[in-house]
Amino acid sequence: MTLYINDEIIEKVRDASDIVDIISGYIPLKKSGSNYVGLCPFHNEKTPSFTVSDTKEFFHCFGCGEGGDVIAFIMKRENLSFPEAVKFLADKAGIIIEERKPKDNKYLEEKNRGYEINKVAARFFYDNLTKNKVALEYLYKRKISSKVIRQFGLGYALDNWSALFNYLKSKGYKEEEISKVGLIRKKSTNDVYYDIFRNRIIFPIIDVRGRVIGFGGRVLDNSMPKYLNSQETYIFSKGNNLYGLNLLSKLSDRKRIIIVEGYMDVISLFNHGINYAVASLGTALTEQQGKLLKRYGQNIYICYDTDEAGIKATLKAIEVLRKLDVEPKIVILDDYKDPDDFLKENSIDDFESKLNTAYNHVDYKIFIYKNKFNINETEGKIGFTKEIAKVIRGLKSPIEKDVYIDKISKEMNISKDAIEKEVFGNNNRMGTKKNIIDKKNISPLKVSLPTANIRAEIDLLRLMIFNKEYYDKVMQEVSLDDYESLECREVLKIISDLYIEDEILNEDMLWERVRGIPNLNMELVEKIIKKPINFLPENVEQMINDLVTTLKVNRLEMERDRIKKKIEEIEKNQNKSPLQEKEFLQLCMELTNLNKELNLIRHEEGR
Ligand code: UTP
Ligand code: MN
Repeated sequence: MTLYINDEIIEKVRDASDIVDIISGYIPLKKSGSNYVGLCPFHNEKTPSFTVSDTKEFFHCFGCGEGGDVIAFIMKRENLSFPEAVKFLADKAGIIIEERKPKDNKYLEEKNRGYEINKVAARFFYDNLTKNKVALEYLYKRKISSKVIRQFGLGYALDNWSALFNYLKSKGYKEEEISKVGLIRKKSTNDVYYDIFRNRIIFPIIDVRGRVIGFGGRVLDNSMPKYLNSQETYIFSKGNNLYGLNLLSKLSDRKRIIIVEGYMDVISLFNHGINYAVASLGTALTEQQGKLLKRYGQNIYICYDTDEAGIKATLKAIEVLRKLDVEPKIVILDDYKDPDDFLKENSIDDFESKLNTAYNHVDYKIFIYKNKFNINETEGKIGFTKEIAKVIRGLKSPIEKDVYIDKISKEMNISKDAIEKEVFGNNNRMGTKKNIIDKKNISPLKVSLPTANIRAEIDLLRLMIFNKEYYDKVMQEVSLDDYESLECREVLKIISDLYIEDEILNEDMLWERVRGIPNLNMELVEKIIKKPINFLPENVEQMINDLVTTLKVNRLEMERDRIKKKIEEIEKNQNKSPLQEKEFLQLCMELTNLNKELNLIRHEEGR
C-alpha cells in the first residue's frame, strides 16, 4: 500500500499522540525532573538512560544514542516506514487517513486558498491603514510605532459595507470562499453579502508558520462591541492559537513567556521591547494553548487583567498549566487594569521588576483570598485559612507544605497545629512530618569526600558544561550508565537537554532544572556546576582520555565486584542445582572477560 500523507495530517497525528502516553505503552516510564525516564527498549540496560521529554516531544537514549519524535519511536519500535508509522499512530488516535494522491488533495488546497484570501485581506487592511489619518492617529495616540504596526501587520477596515468584499472579488475570489473564512456574511433579508469588519483597527492573527488564520478588529471609539473576532472557521480555532506566537517564535530567546489577555497588551509590551508575550485571545487559557505554549518555554508568567474576570482567568490558567507540569508565575500589577495600562504610567524597567517579583501560585492565591475575605474579622480569617489549607493540601512537596503552614500560622496568628489538622486531617499529620526528618537522618554523608571516581565524573561534567565541543567528545566515550553518582547522572541529563535546545549552555536554566529534582545532594551538585574548571586547552584531549578511563575502570571494577560476590554466594552452597552450576560457570566466564578488559585498559594507560 502506498500512502500519501500530507503535512497537515502528519502534524495532526503528532499533536494527537502524546509521546509519554505512547512510549508508556511499551515500557514503564517514571517522572524524573522535567522528563520521564525508563529502560531503553533499543538496547540492553539495567539503569534507565532512556529519557522522554513531553514538552519537547522528543525521546533520547543516553546509552545507545537513539532519539527522535513520537513517529521516529514507532518506526524504530514497530519496524515501520514513516507513512506506516504515521498511519499506526493515526489509527490509535482515531484520525482517519484517506488514501489520496498528492494531486487531488482537495482539503489542503482549500485550506491554502483560505490562508491566501486572509493574506490578501490583511494586505488590503494594512494599505488602508497607511492611507487613513484617523486610524493611524488612533494608534499613534496609543504610542504604537510604525515599525510595530508593520511587524504585527496591523490594518484598518474602511467605514464601508463592501470595500473588502469588492476588493477580494476583483482579485478573483468567490463569494463562498470569502464567506467561508469569515470575512463577509449574507444579510438575512436580501441575500446580499456585507463586510464583517468595518471602521475598525485590524489585528491579523498569524500562526507560527506565518499564515494569517483570522482577525480581530477594534473600534476607534467607545462603541460596542469593542472587539470583533473572526468566527471559528475551517482554518481558525481560537482555543488552539495564541496571538503573538508567530513573533515570539521568531524573535525571542524564550527564556520567559508572558501570557496576557488582549491584543493591545501584546503589542504594547512589544512596543517596549518585550518580544515574548502572547495573548490567549480574550478567553481563559485552554489546554491546547497551554500545550502549545509549553513547547516554546516552561518559564511562564501569567499577566492577565486585574479585574474579576482576569482573576478568574488567572486561576484557571494556573490549573491548566500545572496540569501540564508547568509552574507558572503570576505578575501582580497593583491597581493597573492590564499590562498596557501599566506601561502608560510606568517604565519597562518597572514592568521587569514586576516580572522578577512575580508570585508563585500559592502566594498568588493567598494574595487574592486576602482581598476576598475580611481577615480582620474572625469569620473572614476562618474562611481565608480554610481556602488556603485546601491550596496547601494540593502541594506535592512536604517541605513546601510545611513552609506555607508556618507562614499562614504566623500571619493569621493561628496555631500551626490547627492549620496542620485542617490541611492533613487529624491522622496523618505526623506521618508526613516524620518522613522529612527521617530522610535527612539517613542521607549518607559521602559528599565531603568524593572518591577518585566521583571526582573524575565531576570533572568530566565541568568540562561538558564548559562547551558543547567537549560535551560531544565525552558523550562519544561514556554513556549515562557509566556514571556512578546519581547527582552526576541527573546533571548530565539536564546538560544534554539544554544542549539539544541550544549550542550554548544556559547556566541559570541548568540551576533551575537541577533544583526541581528531589533527593539530590546539593553540595555535590554545587561542586559540579559552581566552580569553573581549570585546564589548558592543549591538554584537554589527554585530560578527557584520562577521566574517561577512570570511569570505565571504575565501572568494570564495580561490575567485577558484583560478579565476585555472586560467585562467592553460589560457592557457599554445598549442593548446587544444575541450574546454579550453569550460572556459576557463566559468572566465572564473565569474570575472566572483565579481568581481561581491565588489564587491557590498565596496560594501555600504563596504570
Ligand atoms: P479588554 O476589554 O481588556 O481589551 O479585552 P484590551 O485588550 O484592554 O483592549 P484596549 O486596551 O481597550 O484596546 C481583552 C481581550 O478580550 C477580547 C479581545 O481579545 C481583547 O483583546 N475581547 C474583548 C473581545 O474579544 N471582545 C470584546 O468585546 C472585548
Ligand atoms: Mn487595555
